[in-house]
Amino acid sequence: MHIEIKQESRTDYQEVFDVNVKAFRQDSEARLVDALRKNDEVFVPELSLVAMDNNTVIGHILFTKIAIIDKNGEAHISLALAPMAVHPACQKKDVGGQLIYEGLEIARQLGYKSVIVLGHTDYYPKFGFKPASFWKIQAPFDVPDAAFMAIELVENGLTNISGTVRYPKEFDMV
Ligand SMILES: CC(C)(COP(=O)(O)OP(=O)(O)OC[C@H]1O[C@@H](n2cnc3c(N)ncnc32)[C@H](O)[C@@H]1OP(=O)(O)O)[C@@H](O)C(=O)NCCC(=O)NCCS
Repeated sequence: MHIEIKQESRTDYQEVFDVNVKAFRQDSEARLVDALRKNDEVFVPELSLVAMDNNTVIGHILFTKIAIIDKNGEAHISLALAPMAVHPACQKKDVGGQLIYEGLEIARQLGYKSVIVLGHTDYYPKFGFKPASFWKIQAPFDVPDAAFMAIELVENGLTNISGTVRYPKEFDMV
């Protein structure tokens, strides 16, 4: 299978919606993607990536801007990896892995210093994610410690940054 990872274009939106519905078996995440695209303050077009197989979208990953609010109320910009979806027929073939690697690399090139993810504890650590509690970074909601993870995109990208993550309001949908 030859997969191409590229920035999504407007013509991919419907297929991205469909892949999210298929992967999550509900439309909340698909609608979240649609809503986040409309929020210029957090949406980074270069970080909405699709995995293409023969001109068909088989996977999608999105990183949006978030803030880590420290105890002095100061905001430190980071990224949330969410959502991420691979068509069920194409899973376990490293499509997700390629989307993550490419996304992290582009994020680094754009100057971001870290990424936060809430997700499978046996998946994201493969890419270098660690529990965010390592840096004393917390979710704004109750979540198992190990599932709330972070990665530094540059050395010391999270040094001296601790606090509570503030998600864009669109995340209240899921
Ligand atoms: C998670 C997902 C994006 C991974 O995509 P993928 O292309 O299958 O990923 P890869 O081929 O790179 O890696 C496969 C790994 O995914 C992980 N994984 C997939 N689904 C998982 C689940 N429900 N729980 C835990 N780990 C899971 C496993 O670690 C698996 O490794 P294995 O083959 O050794 O078991 C895909 O399974 C998916 O779309 N799932 C439904 C939506 C979802 O859960 N999104 C992520 C939200 S955190």
